[in-house]
Parts: sequence; C-alpha cells; structure tokens
Amino acid sequence: MTDAGQNIESVLQEDRKFPPSSEFSAQANISSEQQYLEMWNKGKDDPAGFWGELAKENLAWFKEFDSVMDGEMPETKWFTGGKINASYQCLDRHLTGPRKNKAAIIWEGEPGDQRILTYQQLHHEVCKFANVLKKLGIETGDRVTIYMPMVPELAIAMLACARLGAVHSIVFGGFSADAIADRNHDAESKLVITADGGWRRGKEIPLKATVDEAMEKSPTVENVVVYRRTGGDVNMVPDRDYWWHDLMEDVDADCPAVELDSEHPLFILYTSGSTGKPKGVLHTTAGYMLGATMTSKWVFDLKEDDTYWCTADIGWITGHSYITYGPLSNGTTSLMYEGAPNWPDEGRFWNIVEKSQVNIFYTAPTAIRAFIKWGDQWPSQYDLSSLRLLGTVGEPINPEAWMWYHKVIGNEKCPIVDTWWQTETGGIMLSPLPGVTATKPGSCTKPLPGVVPAIVTEEGEPVTEGGGLLVMTQPWPHMLRTVYGDHDRFIETYFSKFDGKYYFAGDGARIDDDGYYWVMGRVDDVLNVSGHRLSTMEVESALVAHDNVAEAAVVGFPHELKGEGICCFVTLKSGDGSDEEKEELKQHVRKQIGAIATPDKIKIAPALPKTRSGKIMRRLLRDIAAGRDVSGDVTTLEDNTILEKLREDD
Ligand code: PRX
Repeated sequence: MTDAGQNIESVLQEDRKFPPSSEFSAQANISSEQQYLEMWNKGKDDPAGFWGELAKENLAWFKEFDSVMDGEMPETKWFTGGKINASYQCLDRHLTGPRKNKAAIIWEGEPGDQRILTYQQLHHEVCKFANVLKKLGIETGDRVTIYMPMVPELAIAMLACARLGAVHSIVFGGFSADAIADRNHDAESKLVITADGGWRRGKEIPLKATVDEAMEKSPTVENVVVYRRTGGDVNMVPDRDYWWHDLMEDVDADCPAVELDSEHPLFILYTSGSTGKPKGVLHTTAGYMLGATMTSKWVFDLKEDDTYWCTADIGWITGHSYITYGPLSNGTTSLMYEGAPNWPDEGRFWNIVEKSQVNIFYTAPTAIRAFIKWGDQWPSQYDLSSLRLLGTVGEPINPEAWMWYHKVIGNEKCPIVDTWWQTETGGIMLSPLPGVTATKPGSCTKPLPGVVPAIVTEEGEPVTEGGGLLVMTQPWPHMLRTVYGDHDRFIETYFSKFDGKYYFAGDGARIDDDGYYWVMGRVDDVLNVSGHRLSTMEVESALVAHDNVAEAAVVGFPHELKGEGICCFVTLKSGDGSDEEKEELKQHVRKQIGAIATPDKIKIAPALPKTRSGKIMRRLLRDIAAGRDVSGDVTTLEDNTILEKLREDD
C-alpha cells in the first residue's frame, strides 16, 4: 500500500467543515440534502429507472432505447436498441436555439494568441474534418490515434471521429515515440492526427518528428494528418503525410452524424496498470455521454452563462470528460489553454481567469502545490472575483493545500469539489455537490447519485472501522466496457478479486463517522505522479531494456510538487554508477516512456533486498526512498548488509 497508513494519520485530525453558502445552495442544480438523498436512493434501489429517465431527458436520441440496462456487472449493456451520436449530442442539438452563436471553446495559445469558436463554427469545422477523415478512408469502427498539442483542432479531431463512429485513441503529447507506436499497434490504428509541434515554456515541442519515429514501428497506420501550429520544419512523407489545411480546402461542411448503437465504442484511452503493458480502456457512446453530461451538470453546477475552465490536457481522461464531452454536451463555454502555468510568468492562469472572467476552475493538487510554492503575490495581482466554484482531481489533496485554494483562490466564498474518479470510471464518482455538501479538506465526501461504493476487506467483507479497499457494488452507465483486445484482462484486473461481485478500483479508502470518504491512494504498484498513473513495472521494464542494467526495482516516495516521485533502485552489469551513468539511465527512461516518467532518483544497488523466496521487498525500498528508518519486520530479508549499502548511495 502506498504509505496509506501515513495518510490516514494526517487526515484523521481533520475536523474543519465548510458548508455551502445559502446563496450558492439557492441557485444550485442540486440544492438540498433531501434532493440529493432522493436521487441517491433512487439510483441505488432502481438504477434502471434512475438512469433511464436521465437518458431520456438529457441525451438526443435518433431512436430511443428499448431497455436501460441488460446483464449483470461486469457485462452490463446500457440503453440497448438506442441510436445516438456523441458529436451530435455536443454540437448539432445546440444549433437550433440561442446557443448557436455562443462560445463553445475559448482558446488561448501559450504565446498569447487567442481564438473563440462558437457552437456553429465548431460544428462547421467538425463536419469538414469528418469529411476529410472519410476521404482518407476512415470508416465507422476504425481506430484513429490523435497526438496533438492543446489546440482547438484536438477537440475538432475527436468530435469528427465521434461523428463517424471512428474510435479515437488520444496519446498525451508528452509521451515518447515508443509509447505512440505501442498504442498504434495495440489499437491497430489506421491514421495518426498530429501537429508540427506545440508550445511549452516558450519552446517548441516537436510532435511530428516524434510521430515520424513512431511510424517506423506502426505498420497499421496508413496516413498522418499534420496541423500547422508552430510553423517549425517538418518532414512530410509523400502520399503518407498531409497538411490539415490542405485537406480542409477540398471538403464541404455537410456531414450528417452517423446513427450509432448505444454501445458503439467512442474511444480508447491507455492507462497504466500494475502489470503488463498499458491497458486500452474502452468507453462506449450512450453510457459515457450520459455520465459525462450529468456529472458535469451536478458537480460543476453548470449554468448557461458560465465560463468553465478545466486545466487538464485532453490527452488524459479529465480532458476527455471535462473539457470536451461533458461541457459541450451541456452547451457550456469551455476554456482551453495550450501551455505552461508559469509562462511567461507564474501569474498566467490568474491572468486568464481575470481576462475571460472564468467562473468555474478545475485543476489538480500538483498544480495547487506549485501555485503555493510560487507565492501569493501571483494570484493577488489579479481580480479573481468571477470565480464561484473550484475543483480538484487526480490525487488526494493535502488539507493545507485545500485551505490555501479555499482562501487565496476562492476568497473563502467558492465551494471546492474534490472529485474522485478514474480513467475506467469515465466520470466523477465521489464528490461534494457544491450546493449541498459541507466539505472537509482532504475528503472527496460522498458518492454521486447512481454511484454505490463500499469499503471492504481483502475478503470482501464490509469494513466498519479504519481503512479498506474501495469498490463499486453496482454498475453505472459510464464504466469501462473492456480492455481493448483483452477482455480477460478487464475481468482479471477489475472484477476477479471479489468474484465478479464488485468493481475493484485499486484504491484504499476509509469512511468517517459522517459517512464521508477519504481516499488514501493506490494499493497496487501504481505511482501517482502529478495526478497521473504510472506503473512501477513499466519503468522497471524500461530500465532493464538498457544494456547495462541487470535488475531494477521502482518505488514512489513523497514529493513536494508531484505528489509522488519516482525512485529507481538499479543493479548494474558493470561500472559503479557515476553521476553521468545515472543521468543516462534517467534519459533512457524518459525516451522510452516520456517526460512524465523521468526518474527523480536513481540509486545504484549492489543487489536488491529480497526475501528468502526471492521476492523484492518493496516496503523496505519505499522506506529508503523516503529517507525513513526501515520499519517493520526484516527477518525474512536474505542479506541484511544490502540495506546499509542502499542508504549510503544518495
Ligand atoms: O488513486 C486515485 C487517484 O487517481 C487514480 C485514477 O487515475 P487516472 O485514471 O489517471 O485518472 C485521474 C483523473 C480522474 C485513482 O485511482 N485519484 C483521482 N482523483 C482523486 C484521486 N485520489 C484521491 N482523491 C481524488 N480526488
């Protein structure tokens, strides 16, 4: 368990409570405890009735479904018989009313350029690009990889895929060529959509060059579409690579949305697990769209004139659900920013909030820790009074970071929604409702309507005191349907632990006396680095792929900014591990996986501490990485002198 015990200790002392103001509650989409309880009880006792009514009211159907849910978890199918399209849901249905010329996306590039696309304009671009995809031979069901910077064309590309029923697989722009190639291969992608580059801290990130390298190992990919963002030099391969702007010249904007089955795949998004290669989490159309739509409306309390900003990258699930699909389905104005929060200075985010009068702001604890470090003088230079609601996601938020967010950014008037969820859950599962829930710093509070969690022991028995394993006892429409190409792995990872009875999230949590949930972190070998999941095993595989590495063990350690840092214990084949060699290993992992996986510490180990049966004792390594005294039992350790040597290498 990732230092779960420590976390419990620190949050146990937390007894501050912040109820919403009566003004906020009065205007909220869900405005009273009673309303919440009625919804929650209905979701628990009559899930088909609960989700069925919401689906009829909130989704645009070409043909209404025959049944709401069929089959037991994990094989539940939702809204069978229905015909729907996610791009239609996000665009077309807003064009007949007052939202037609409302801003759908307010975009700001890192160099300071700005664009606003109304719903009408976004629809126009999406239809045109869908026709481009058709011309390139993309059909319903084909997989398309998207590797782009945070520009509106990223949202356009995903909505164009959805319009045709092509399945997008977005790869975060920080991943390496090998990571793109693996994902292309696993999904058997036919097309890659990319850009020449993107801007990050004033520097050009050369995306097309990385795609070129990936293409050497991507035999299924036939074409590459390149959006011109930076104007940097790129190498265009004839008959394989096309410029976005050239292709858009030859198409019209007439492209009706394809009428798709409710369970038609919408996207694949790869995420790390504790074993094996990244898993292609597959989400389908109707259920996912219902989840993204309802949770956005409930948790972010979206109103017609709100300007809403989620600072995530669309390459992660947060951007899928809460920059594109959820907000646009609700007809919201969604703000998108291309670059770094500290460029050209540490006030950039607050400058954007002031300039665009942002009302709702959703970010990650790792970003909040960086804001705190940079100092209050940055936010204090700007007028943040437009903000009415704040959110966090990605990892447990430290109560003091929560208090800073509440005071300095929220001016003690904005509710904070600490939202717990996962790539696999598709949408927010546990979160305060901003007009209802009295928040406690560090707790994601209560399950949303339609979500029925429990905390259980390893044996699946309810835990009445202390921590346990977080599970979901009922299916929900926006849960993943499979791991792409490996249904056995889907069952094994999420459902086998409790014989198919529960969805197992992989997190530890506890419930307090008020019924509030406190998530304590992962219970498997998954690191949470800056709010993103990385498997220790993937980093280990990358290390042992280096010629001079005999064995490696990777653990997390508490890191001031990232939440968890990556510490690698490495046994070399030769040499004693000079600083240059350590740096080379860091760069090697970075090249294999991407910048996000760059190790923070490399410790050269003459041997790894193992039990007599040969298992690496990670618990000891975690203690050493964190600079703690080694706790607990070491009697099973094969060679006691190893620990001393490991501690010496810093
Ligand atoms: O450990 C939990 C943590 O992030 C994991 C999910 O990671 P990922 O699929 O990359 O999605 C991140 C964005 C949804 C969870 O298993 N996590 C996420 N949100 C929270 C959290 N831990 C505590 N509190 C949260 N609010």
